[in-house]
Amino acid sequence: MATTDSIFSVLDDEDHFLKCFGVFRKRLQEKDMTSEDWLANIVTDVRPKVVQSVDQSTKGTLKALGVGSGDGRTEDYFLSHIEGDFAQIHQSLVEPNRLLAEQHKKNTQQTNKKNVTYDWNVQTLEEYMEEMKGFKYHLISAIHSLYHMTNPEESLGFLYDQLEENGNLLIVLRSEKSVAGLIAPGIPSQYNKIIIESSRFVLDYFDARGIPYDLHVRDLTLDVSGCLDKVIPEEASLLLDFLTHVKDFCKAPLPPGIKDSVFSALRETVENSSKSQGVIYPYHCIVVQRRHGQ
Ligand SMILES: C[S@@+](CC[C@H](N)C(=O)[O-])C[C@H]1O[C@@H](n2cnc3c(N)ncnc32)[C@H](O)[C@@H]1O
Repeated sequence: MATTDSIFSVLDDEDHFLKCFGVFRKRLQEKDMTSEDWLANIVTDVRPKVVQSVDQSTKGTLKALGVGSGDGRTEDYFLSHIEGDFAQIHQSLVEPNRLLAEQHKKNTQQTNKKNVTYDWNVQTLEEYMEEMKGFKYHLISAIHSLYHMTNPEESLGFLYDQLEENGNLLIVLRSEKSVAGLIAPGIPSQYNKIIIESSRFVLDYFDARGIPYDLHVRDLTLDVSGCLDKVIPEEASLLLDFLTHVKDFCKAPLPPGIKDSVFSALRETVENSSKSQGVIYPYHCIVVQRRHGQ
């Protein structure tokens, strides 16, 4: 469904989302760690906690939930590093983009992990919440997928409540200092369906409730070349679509002032950047373990 009659979020067009997400991934570079190192550090930290969370009540089966799992590359990475710890793993996946869910399904069929079973839910977390209240998981991951929760406090509360005792919730989001985090406040959510602008919302949510978490920071660099050119090349224009989450951002008939605020946030970020080849793009991984009685 369109956000307005003629302005669309990138989420409204599955093909277009794949294109601009592809450009964004291609233009992100790690500063001092490869993506595997970063994930490996998180796995090292989280793995003992996940192992400890599975008791005999499920006969040693790990129950995992992936929210907005896309093509599943991060979920698959985690599972491949912990699958040896469990006799059986069952993973539920919630992903509204049909093309990404199909790609993920295909990948899992090719790798054919013997002790892993899946159920696929091609729907939003909000739709899933309506149906699945009451299920509990040892591991819930939401990797760059909470930005669009229509009722973010309810969604975070739901995810926390679905954790088994000692279960772990992994949330990855851009930090408020990333360029997309800086741009987001200038675009009303009716145009791009971004509700949670950065990790700040989630950190504040857990802080306000006195729920402890571990925070892993990962500094990346995003190549934004072309985005400030007079005539913006196609690839840079797709990157702008991803950063703003407005489809065809450059041409979209947005109310006056919005594009200026986006370009001025982008220009300021580029001017303040010490990088020759882009701007800093930090990610946060927030790990919450549900303690006894909480
Ligand atoms: C930036 S992509 C990240 C995909 C994947 N987790 C990754 O890290 O590669 C955001 C994902 O969130 C999904 N998404 C958007 N709105 C959602 C919602 N309301 N509930 C669940 N997932 C959602 C999108 O379809 C998309 O696959």
